[in-house]
Amino acid sequence: MKVILVAAISLDGFITRHDEPGSDFTSEADSRYLGEILPRFDCAVFGGRSYRVAPEWMRTRLMPGKLRVVMTRSPDRYAGQAERDSFEFTDGSPPDIVDDLRSRGFRACALLGGGQVYSAFLQAGCVDELWLTLEARLFGNGTPLCPGSFDLSLRLLSHQPLDGDTLLLKYAPASPGPNL
Ligand SMILES: NC(=O)c1ccc[n+]([C@@H]2O[C@H](COP(=O)([O-])OP(=O)(O)OC[C@H]3O[C@@H](n4cnc5c(N)ncnc54)[C@H](OP(=O)(O)O)[C@@H]3O)[C@@H](O)[C@H]2O)c1
Repeated sequence: MKVILVAAISLDGFITRHDEPGSDFTSEADSRYLGEILPRFDCAVFGGRSYRVAPEWMRTRLMPGKLRVVMTRSPDRYAGQAERDSFEFTDGSPPDIVDDLRSRGFRACALLGGGQVYSAFLQAGCVDELWLTLEARLFGNGTPLCPGSFDLSLRLLSHQPLDGDTLLLKYAPASPGPNL
């Protein structure tokens, strides 16, 4: 199974504008692009904080009909919102999540953030590719793409304008992690 990290970032590497929850800063071009690529995935993983920004929207509008998995340290708190094979909550590690999805036959997982979840998967070597929408914005502060301290070398796979100011950059980790 492939795990693709999908994120929209500012030029200075933030996935949120300052402390505003959500990613309202992204362009129309990024929305169109997401609408094209997300249906190609059969499952998605995201973090508890991203889920809590817009739980109803996540449940009904984000990849409906596909398996969505929320990483949380308190899955029991969400027992009433969980639905097997549709909307699940887990405190498993990234390798455990990937192994579980692979064993259930899933083939393409969109890793949808936020920063803590991106970092956890990257540090565990559980990301095959990063698909980054680079918005022509500078925020100075916000939620970093990958909080924490590490040094991961990447290979540029492709670069493509989504519109005049917005770029789509695709990378792969230079050396595969232990889980790949
Ligand atoms: N621009 C973009 O492309 C983009 C993409 C996604 C999200 N965002 C934005 O980014 C912000 C959220 O990012 P974030 O970094 O603050 O949070 P996040 O990664 O969305 O979620 C963090 C939460 O995930 C759970 N978690 C993290 N590591 C875990 C682990 N190892 N095991 C179990 N659970 C774990 C915990 O949930 P519990 O607290 O439930 O325990 C933690 O509080 C939101 O504003 C969101 O809208 C932007």
